[in-house]
Amino acid sequence: MWLPDKPYNDLPALPPATDVETPAVLKACITASRRLAALHASADLIPNRHILTNTLPLMEAQASSEIENIVTTADELFRYAAVENTDTLSPALKEAFGYRAAMRHGIDLLQRRQLCTNTAVEICRILRHTDAGIRSTPGCCLRSQTTGEVVYTPPDGEAAIREKLANWEQYVNGQTETDPLIRLAVGHYQFEAIHPFSDGNGRTGRILNILFLVQENLLSTPVLCLSRAIIRDKAAYYSRLNAVTAHGEWEPFILYMVNAVGETAAWTHRRITLIRHLLDETAAFMRGRLGGTYSRELADLLFMWPYCRISNLVDAGIARRQTAASYLDALADAGVLDTVRQGKAKLFMNKRLLPLLLTESETWKPFQ
Ligand SMILES: Nc1ncnc2c1ncn2[C@@H]1O[C@H](COP(=O)(O)OP(=O)(O)OP(=O)(O)O)[C@@H](O)[C@H]1O
Ligand SMILES: [Mg+2]
Repeated sequence: MWLPDKPYNDLPALPPATDVETPAVLKACITASRRLAALHASADLIPNRHILTNTLPLMEAQASSEIENIVTTADELFRYAAVENTDTLSPALKEAFGYRAAMRHGIDLLQRRQLCTNTAVEICRILRHTDAGIRSTPGCCLRSQTTGEVVYTPPDGEAAIREKLANWEQYVNGQTETDPLIRLAVGHYQFEAIHPFSDGNGRTGRILNILFLVQENLLSTPVLCLSRAIIRDKAAYYSRLNAVTAHGEWEPFILYMVNAVGETAAWTHRRITLIRHLLDETAAFMRGRLGGTYSRELADLLFMWPYCRISNLVDAGIARRQTAASYLDALADAGVLDTVRQGKAKLFMNKRLLPLLLTESETWKPFQ
């Protein structure tokens, strides 16, 4: 029996006892899959995949970290995106970059093995900057953010937690006759209900969602900003998680997750289309203005680094320092970039791209 303040060691193993493939769920899966497929195709239309993998995961990192009240702005993340040693940055920036690093590591691991307990542990360690593993001491509980009362107490005991994770792992990888989006939602609930870590379960679970979509070939790169949809209605997300535990109500939770995937896929697809059009226009304008010094690599670079530094050009092998500086200055003179000072560094801001990444804007100032 489940009681909010007692460790829920009776958490039922997967698959769920009730039929989760209800007509409403299957219908939602069709829409979401169609949107994901469109996103997948549009992401592949941008030949340089770093353009998307450098920018969109930072937006995801910002939104997902904000759930944990780690407040940064995406603008700030883009400014510091090229900084290698994040130790010198503010704690909030460090956390958000930890999320990005954890996502990258998870993607690398997918080359070697399916999603598993160890992958979750490694992700959680990176994003929390600790070497802690699965919870081994009792006393972990979840409290309502408004009233402070205990709303859920996850299972206790490392062995029990590991056993439940082994079942979770088997379900997400093995239950292949079930639609992958249903497996994503069910697996996400279970992971959060097991709550294997003393902290970072939400962020780890949200990274696992994206990795799962990549593993299932529903995405080729981790460009989906799924946490946006979750953060928009945190209370609804929590109450649906709880309804599964308290009443075995799977359908509302699965619908919430599947719809979140569909909506964010549509949103991200739209952003990628806009980015692609802007990139083409920018490249054409640059070709006209720069003549012989134009290269597509340079245009791409301005989209990989919305706040570009001279060193980004040098590192990409486009030009040596002085020449690189002259290219960027020429682009600033031509109105493609704006210059911004950051301490001693001079940043060149892709002023038409940033609003596409930071706001809902769908237009940009014409080139002239
Ligand atoms: N009633 C509940 N039952 C199961 N899981 C829950 C419940 N309420 C919240 N959760 C999950 O717990 C997560 C928070 O856990 P934790 O603080 O360990 O993670 P976090 O990454 O630090 O936080 P956050 O998700 O807020 O960023 C939530 O994101 C949610 O997924
Ligand atoms: Mg937390």
